[in-house]
Amino acid sequence: MSISLLNQYLEMVMFLTIGYITGRLVELDYEKQKSLETKVVEITKLQNYTKNIVDSINSGVLSTNSNFIITSENKEAEIIFGVKGLVGSNINSIFKDENVINIFNQVKLQKLHFTDIKTEIIVDNEEKYLSLSISPLLNILNKVQGLVIIIHDKSREKYLEAQAVRADRLLAIEELASGIAHEIRNPLGIIKTISQTLKEEKVDDDLIEGIDIIIKEIDRANKVIDGLLNFSRPMENEMKEIFLNELFKEVALITNKYLGKQNVNLKLHVDEDANIIGDKEKLKQVFINIIFNGVQSMDNGGTITINTEIIDNGVSISFIDTGMGIKKEDLGKIFNPFFTTKEQGVGLGLSISHRIIQDHKGYMTIDSIESKGTKIDIYLPKN
Ligand SMILES: Nc1ncnc2c1ncn2[C@@H]1O[C@H](COP(=O)(O)OP(=O)(O)OP(=O)(O)O)[C@@H](O)[C@H]1O
Ligand SMILES: [Mg+2]
Repeated sequence: MSISLLNQYLEMVMFLTIGYITGRLVELDYEKQKSLETKVVEITKLQNYTKNIVDSINSGVLSTNSNFIITSENKEAEIIFGVKGLVGSNINSIFKDENVINIFNQVKLQKLHFTDIKTEIIVDNEEKYLSLSISPLLNILNKVQGLVIIIHDKSREKYLEAQAVRADRLLAIEELASGIAHEIRNPLGIIKTISQTLKEEKVDDDLIEGIDIIIKEIDRANKVIDGLLNFSRPMENEMKEIFLNELFKEVALITNKYLGKQNVNLKLHVDEDANIIGDKEKLKQVFINIIFNGVQSMDNGGTITINTEIIDNGVSISFIDTGMGIKKEDLGKIFNPFFTTKEQGVGLGLSISHRIIQDHKGYMTIDSIESKGTKIDIYLPKN
């Protein structure tokens, strides 16, 4: 074999070898890329799967890094806090409660778990009552790399609890009221009669002034007693079909004079078809109480607007006034018997109204902004 032939032969072998190696390398690279792609798809699937699970939990879930910066949130957390995109914020700016912030630090430093930590936040001017479970988020080396916070919104339960407490209190007052009211009413009646007789005796002016005060105060005490008795009387409802537009026409007639005197304009938007089964006289009392409260919340007149809306198997009625509104700290008390901010108030108007609405299996809510006005919503089922 000549040298040149050998060279040619070797060249060919080299060429084939390089070709084979290159081909194999490309193949390997392709396989690697393919398996990488499969892995990415698998990881994305897993991520979506986990996200779906976390989003379906009906508690809020937040995780943070070790600097307390939020790294993930689920849908419920967005609902509870009323914002999307909590990721990136510091949890200390969301939970401003010092006790809770202390706990975050303890969880981080001592790897402790805490459950049922109560706290409050304000979302859209509304207080929310939360219960938190806080745990450390550990890495493979068992080191704390952040926190996991599970958030339960307990606002509704708190509201129901408050209602139950109120119902208990009402029951206690009822028992007390019926016992005492009669006993007080009789001596008051006697004092009033004697005072009036004394006044007619034409005693001197100073005395008359004093007697007038006695009579005025007796009348006031009687008003409280009437309220109490009204309250403690067992409810005997006369349930009949009521058309709300007729009922409100009567209410307008009754309140007309008082409204005119106080410069208050009543705007009625009552659906012609809105009808329910209820006790007409009792509901009239409720609506008058609410209108009177509205009028009494205005210094220089204003407007009370009443709207009705037919909704699922019932009617919703809203009363909106342009009065001075209710202080935030008083909002939770206004349905309590004897809570009043008025010099001449008894504080029974709303608690009696609340009870009448409850007896109709409805409910009553209140929204108010100080110096803007108040909105009372009543829902009454059709029957
Ligand atoms: N529309 C309103 N605007 C502002 N404050 C209100 C309104 N309705 C109720 N309130 C507040 O709630 C309190 C309780 O109302 P409620 O009707 O039960 O008693 P009252 O009006 O004080 O006395 P009364 O027994 O004579 O009705 C009021 O004293 C007032 O502070
Ligand atoms: Mg009142």
